[in-house]
Amino acid sequence: MYPPSFIRTLILSVSFASNAFGQSDISDPTKRAEFALSALQIFYNAGTGLWSTTGWWNSANILNIVANLAKVDDSPQLQSLASRIFANTLVQAPPQNPQPGVEGNHNKQRVNSNDVFVMFNSTGVGSGYTKIMDNEDELVTTGERAKTAAANVNDWLDGFYDDDLWWALGWIAAYDVTQDKEYLTLAESIFAAVATTWGTNCGKGGIYWSWQKDYVNAIANELFLSTAAHLANRANDKASYVAWAKKEIDWFTTSGMINQRFTINDGLTSDCKNNNMTTWSYNQGVILGGLVELNRASPEDSYLTLAAKIAKAAIAELSDDSGILHDKCGPYCGADGSQFKGIFVRNLQLLHDVAPDDAYVEFIQTNANSVWTNNRDDGNMLSLDWAGPFINPANASTHSSAMEALIAAITVE
Ligand SMILES: *[C@@H]1O[C@H](CO)[C@@H](O)[C@H](O)[C@H]1NC(C)=O
Ligand SMILES: *[C@@H]1O[C@H](CO)[C@@H](O)[C@H](O)[C@H]1NC(C)=O
Ligand SMILES: *[C@@H]1O[C@H](CO)[C@@H](O)[C@H](O)[C@H]1NC(C)=O
Repeated sequence: MYPPSFIRTLILSVSFASNAFGQSDISDPTKRAEFALSALQIFYNAGTGLWSTTGWWNSANILNIVANLAKVDDSPQLQSLASRIFANTLVQAPPQNPQPGVEGNHNKQRVNSNDVFVMFNSTGVGSGYTKIMDNEDELVTTGERAKTAAANVNDWLDGFYDDDLWWALGWIAAYDVTQDKEYLTLAESIFAAVATTWGTNCGKGGIYWSWQKDYVNAIANELFLSTAAHLANRANDKASYVAWAKKEIDWFTTSGMINQRFTINDGLTSDCKNNNMTTWSYNQGVILGGLVELNRASPEDSYLTLAAKIAKAAIAELSDDSGILHDKCGPYCGADGSQFKGIFVRNLQLLHDVAPDDAYVEFIQTNANSVWTNNRDDGNMLSLDWAGPFINPANASTHSSAMEALIAAITVE
């Protein structure tokens, strides 16, 4: 039995780093990131398994961020906290899925006036799993399926393939920290579900952004590459995941998504040309981690060469004169845009691990120092603009994103 959710909230949000008020002179990168984690957990709602003030995919990304810190900080308290967060989110988050099963006719949900969701399995028979999304955000199951239902892949799919794959990457990161196969299996199932959608109107390759099949964009395809490549280095069927990753990168590099400056635009027009839309920082990032993992699974010089070109072009295009990263949206970046920058830094760090470059070290340190010095309030909350000043209020999206610069700085010390 789980204790009541308010008790769980206390357990999972308890600050394990002592209060940092008046400690702005902290320079140890690990301590900085630990303080940021304590502040982050103020947003964690143990009853939903998500971080409040931000959305469904954002929480998948935050799960990944918590894991990334746990990978570089072996403090037993932190390891234990991270493991408990993963276990709790696995069980609690499914009822929060904004549109479970929308991509498949066989498992569309029924919603009655009381917000009761009935999940259907692949045979179209009611799965015995009922979700009630009430004000208390409590998971209510009929039968005794709480744990099994949580690890049911359909619970993690919402018809937006980027959202789905953010969860896959989050669970892979949780697996890296815990070695718990349940997380890896869930990630494999999510990938398998998305892979069934392969093939767009653009050269019959790639995936669409969503089940509506009306947009071919960079982020969904970069995430597809990265998930396949991560799985190739972890799951049993290596050859099949390598093949998927290669298929994706081969299609991606000829799709037109990468522009002449070697940055990546948002997506393609309906007639499959680069749409010249915003070069978001996360679109310069996810591909780096994908190429690094693919190179690890199946080495080819061109992968890291391409990654370095994109990384350098992005740093040049998206940094200000002081070297601080910005998306082309401030100060109104919306709930999504406010989380992008951290994703770039995380993946740049992965590239630096295998292809070190002083320019990356300087970029990471400059941004981490600016986040800590210019973009933090007295409660160690981190806001949108890494150059500062602090924009009130910070939320789980801005905070977690900026925290990634602090985490990356640990590894380049
Ligand atoms: C679908 O759910 C029904 C009812 O719980 C169950 O009898 C059946 O075996 C399930 N089928 C699959 C493929 O999971
Ligand atoms: C692309 O957009 C930029 C501004 O964001 C503009 O300067 C440029 O002319 C556009 N290029 C094309 C081919 O539309
Ligand atoms: C979080 O803060 C950012 C920056 O102030 C803002 O753009 C975003 O909309 C906020 N997110 C939510 C869900 O309010």
